[in-house]
Amino acid sequence: MLEKLGIFPEAASEFADQVDYLYFFLIGVTIFFVTVIVAALAYLSVRYRHRRSPVPTPVHGSILLELTWSGIPLVIALFIFGWGAKLYIEHQDMPPDGIEISVTGKQWMWKLQHPSGQREINALHVPVGVPILLTMTSEDVIHSFYVPAFRFKRDVVPGVYTRAHFTADKTGSFHLFCAEYCGTDHSVMIGKVVVMEPSEYEAWLSGQPAGETPVQAGERLFTDLRCNTCHAAGSDQKGPDLAGVFGSKRLLVGGGEAIADEEYIRESILRPARKVVFGYEPLMPTYQGQVNETQILSLMAYLKTLGGAAEGANP
Ligand code: CUA
Repeated sequence: MLEKLGIFPEAASEFADQVDYLYFFLIGVTIFFVTVIVAALAYLSVRYRHRRSPVPTPVHGSILLELTWSGIPLVIALFIFGWGAKLYIEHQDMPPDGIEISVTGKQWMWKLQHPSGQREINALHVPVGVPILLTMTSEDVIHSFYVPAFRFKRDVVPGVYTRAHFTADKTGSFHLFCAEYCGTDHSVMIGKVVVMEPSEYEAWLSGQPAGETPVQAGERLFTDLRCNTCHAAGSDQKGPDLAGVFGSKRLLVGGGEAIADEEYIRESILRPARKVVFGYEPLMPTYQGQVNETQILSLMAYLKTLGGAAEGANP
């Protein structure tokens, strides 16, 4: 809404309006105090300019004055802090439903995948009014996924799975930037987010070659990389059965425990000797260099679908 004033960039998400109101308030407070201070400065300079008349008695300190000029800014600053913190915290919660998109940053492009398998590079097509849930990671260095029209900016970090969301409330094409200097071609790591009516989105989606869904790709990799020879139930079980592994608590060799979340699974694929599940030998070779981040995301998508004994403890 405030974009109509012409001082804010285009706004295309609910969150954008909320951020703009806060900024508008900040600008308002700034203008108010600049005006008051400059006016007082001008008035006092004239009122107390050098004259031949007798010099007024100097004033030394005033508790009341000092408490006032400390107290008022404190209250205003805390109000702004509270407002900003409220927006930030509210926006951390992921909506329960939405479209899961996986995002991989790579020098120097954005790779995106829809839940039904369609892949895109440097472009993301989404429907208007539907929460878009992103799981983001990087192949190499830190990038930052930045869509100014949504007031959305989040770092994309190697080895970390960042979850974030936005809901576009306007159709159109919006700039996507990388907002973290990531090397020579950082400046060309740009793209667009195309927001469409839901029916148009469905039509667009069905017109794209779907290929494998992440779950299918993960299942294929699980066999191709021969994970199944050690990890499937009924195999000779050199490694733990992975049914229900996702989100479970794992007791580790040498004491301690870990929750099998995204970071744990990734570490177990790339550095299997780090956290060996209690009762097993550190036999698994590393898959560093054999799988890229997109494939690890697929493997995780597949592992999440493995139901089975989710009782949490080890076999
Ligand atoms: Cu990626 Cu800058």
